[in-house]
Amino acid sequence: MASKSPLHLITLNSLVLLVLFLLALTFLAESHTHSLTNGTFSIREASVQDLQTAFKQKKLTSRELVQFYLGEIRRLNPSLKAVIEVNPDALSQADTADRQRREHGWSELHGIPVLLKDIIGTKDMLNTTAGSFALLGTVVRRDAGTVAKLREAGAIILGKASLSEWSNFRSFNAPSGWSARGGQGKVVIYTPRTGVQEVAKVKMF
Ligand SMILES: *[C@@H]1O[C@H](CO)[C@@H](O)[C@H](O)[C@H]1NC(C)=O
Ligand SMILES: *[C@@H]1O[C@H](CO)[C@@H](O)[C@H](O)[C@H]1NC(C)=O
Repeated sequence: MASKSPLHLITLNSLVLLVLFLLALTFLAESHTHSLTNGTFSIREASVQDLQTAFKQKKLTSRELVQFYLGEIRRLNPSLKAVIEVNPDALSQADTADRQRREHGWSELHGIPVLLKDIIGTKDMLNTTAGSFALLGTVVRRDAGTVAKLREAGAIILGKASLSEWSNFRSFNAPSGWSARGGQGKVVIYTPRTGVQEVAKVKMF
């Protein structure tokens, strides 16, 4: 029979738990510094032109770009509340763009993910609700003109961004940047030098 006292077992169990906890923390810390970097190309601060150059030089694919943004949304949106929905079709749209890239003549927006405010109608899996539960599940008749043009240009509809509900027509004193579906939107002020992220409440119309 084991000669260990229950106290030993409890200590051992706590130790195992502590190690697991530390491992989890390390994992979280690593995933928090995640960024998409390939040689001289860094996704942070990249302009649309930088992205197009990276596509052409085969340093980046639209799929990798969309996966990166989906990860950032998962990571940051619980505190920023900037995005209401992500498009379940975003990755397949990225794959289409990656296949089409070999042909020439596409616009600068080809393969670039965009977020649309939740007042811009999209005829797809996404809801269009102006941030309100009142419109949840309703179906728009067609894409808004802007959306039709974005699709034609090969842009990827990444999802719907939050807004002041009903574009601030909800009431005279509804908080700016707040919607029932999105919650209170905030912004991060990111300083590359320090990496400090300050979360501030801002106006979003
Ligand atoms: C990084 O770039 C090289 C070519 O410079 C490419 O072969 C590779 O697939 C790229 N990897 C990623 C993750 O983008
Ligand atoms: C649209 O809203 C419905 C609820 O009515 C929800 O089930 C669905 O997941 C939403 N679509 C997306 C892309 O989140």
